[in-house]
Amino acid sequence: MVQVTPFLLLLCLALVAPGLSSTKCVLTGKWINDLGSTMVIDAVDNAGNFNGVYHTAVTATSNKILKSPLKGSQHLTNTKSEPTFGFTVNWTFSDSVTVFTGQCFVDKNGKEVLKTMWLLRSHVDTIGDDWKATRVGINVFRRMQHQKE
Ligand code: BTN
Repeated sequence: MVQVTPFLLLLCLALVAPGLSSTKCVLTGKWINDLGSTMVIDAVDNAGNFNGVYHTAVTATSNKILKSPLKGSQHLTNTKSEPTFGFTVNWTFSDSVTVFTGQCFVDKNGKEVLKTMWLLRSHVDTIGDDWKATRVGINVFRRMQHQKE
């Protein structure tokens, strides 16, 4: 009995520990990035497609910021617990569009993180201004809360 107890303790730890920190990165939920922008990603469908809402903290325009819809897709294979994805935000308060592409990782603390790059295409009035119409950058997103059922 004395030898059995430590064994049972180890067994319990082995069974419970994996549930404490996830090794799978899931896009669905609410995220905040390094600029303070937030987004909510709805359920990912069987084809890997998803919708959501983006609330940017900053703008390249002088317009009042409004929430904007996003549409994206991710890779779905079972072996991909840290999937790549992309999404487009069609800004409701400007004539611009941003595309994000990235990968969902689980960091060394078991926390999910979205490492992304983006291209922001702004509207310009003439083809001569095309050269200055696209910005590029990096955003890192962390989970705020799990999506409510
Ligand atoms: C615009 O200014 O025309 C629309 C808003 C753009 C916000 C950009 S998109 C890339 C970067 N990441 C954010 O969270 N916000 C800015």
